[in-house]
Amino acid sequence: MLLGVSGGIAAYKAAELTRRLRAEGVEVRVVMTRAAQAFVGPLTFQALSGNPVRLDILDPTAEAGMDHIELARWADLVLVAPASADVMARLAAGMADDLLTTLALASQAPLALAPAMNQRMWQHPATQANARLLTDRGVRLLGPAAGAQACGETGPGRMLEPGEIVAALLEPRPASPLAGRRILVTAGPTREALDPVRYLGNRSSGRMGYALAQALVTRGAQVVLVSGPTALAVPLGLERIQVESALEMRAAVMARIADQDIFVAAAAVADYRVADPAPHKIKKGQPELTLRLVRNPDILAEVAARPDPPFTVGFAAETERVEEEARAKLQAKSLDMIAANQVGGATGGFEREDNALTVIRRDGRLNQLPLMPKAHLAEALTDLIAETYATYLATQGA
Ligand code: C5P
Repeated sequence: MLLGVSGGIAAYKAAELTRRLRAEGVEVRVVMTRAAQAFVGPLTFQALSGNPVRLDILDPTAEAGMDHIELARWADLVLVAPASADVMARLAAGMADDLLTTLALASQAPLALAPAMNQRMWQHPATQANARLLTDRGVRLLGPAAGAQACGETGPGRMLEPGEIVAALLEPRPASPLAGRRILVTAGPTREALDPVRYLGNRSSGRMGYALAQALVTRGAQVVLVSGPTALAVPLGLERIQVESALEMRAAVMARIADQDIFVAAAAVADYRVADPAPHKIKKGQPELTLRLVRNPDILAEVAARPDPPFTVGFAAETERVEEEARAKLQAKSLDMIAANQVGGATGGFEREDNALTVIRRDGRLNQLPLMPKAHLAEALTDLIAETYATYLATQGA
């Protein structure tokens, strides 16, 4: 394996990664970018890999040994860890302005990247566009994970731990029952217009639904994400449809639901909308203003009541009696699964990075997923959905 190490504080973790890969019997040759050398010395990688470390494409001595084209042919896999925003941009653009990018361009081996950068750099539309371009081209992205960063910020951009990278690369991934399934996910809040400039909204950030959509993509599902307004970047490898109101969300869902295998309703849909939104900005003339609200359609209940419904997963945000309310909703809406959480308390809910869920299945079985970051929770919930969906398929005789 050819390991490319680019510049960033996570470069020190690449040393441990090299050691672990060697321990698994993988032959590793390391290429460092110039920036990586400011963080870790080449001798570290030379000692750990047992091979000379390549630093420069214009090095006559090194080229006299295994030259860069030979090295590109030799590689059975090119892994860049850490992959900085700069390296991702250069790889996306197909540049060959240093040894690592030249090798990536010259090699026919699969390319995997373990991104590591400041969370704002990762979430920047430029980096996200590069990440999408690379994955569309078949490049495998490992991570990044979310959490505390060396720069003192918190968010997505941490390099996966060396053990996680090794596991992801070496362990055969069992086929998920979700692979190839068409899954429609709703996420985020809805906005119900009062007039052209104001709306009724709610505190949903969309994080849980987005994390779930992303986790479903990694299981090989074809995901369509119907999303209310959020500040979140489009997750990789899925189609996102943006909507504002509950009625728009319903229309987007209904237009696509017929050929979906699974429907996951993670959106916080407004129960009511303004009966007659004002065509012009409401003036503050009167001392009192009365808004007349009318019920919105329940998208999830409507999907579950179709003659040939998909496998349905609902959410329930409750301020009290979480389990009881969730069981009642599962029954009332005739769902296959429901994931409920307490909101307004200390254990998570809206506008938070963490959450805890009580998951109940149609047969009454219950799982408690304890308080953890929403990205981890999405992984755990996806595993439960996969397991329950497999049982559902078995009973449907599909
Ligand atoms: O009944 P309640 O609103 O608590 O149910 C929550 C679940 O129903 C969530 O899965 C939510 O996405 C879905 N829902 C919906 N359409 C609505 C209201 C809720 O799809 N109008």
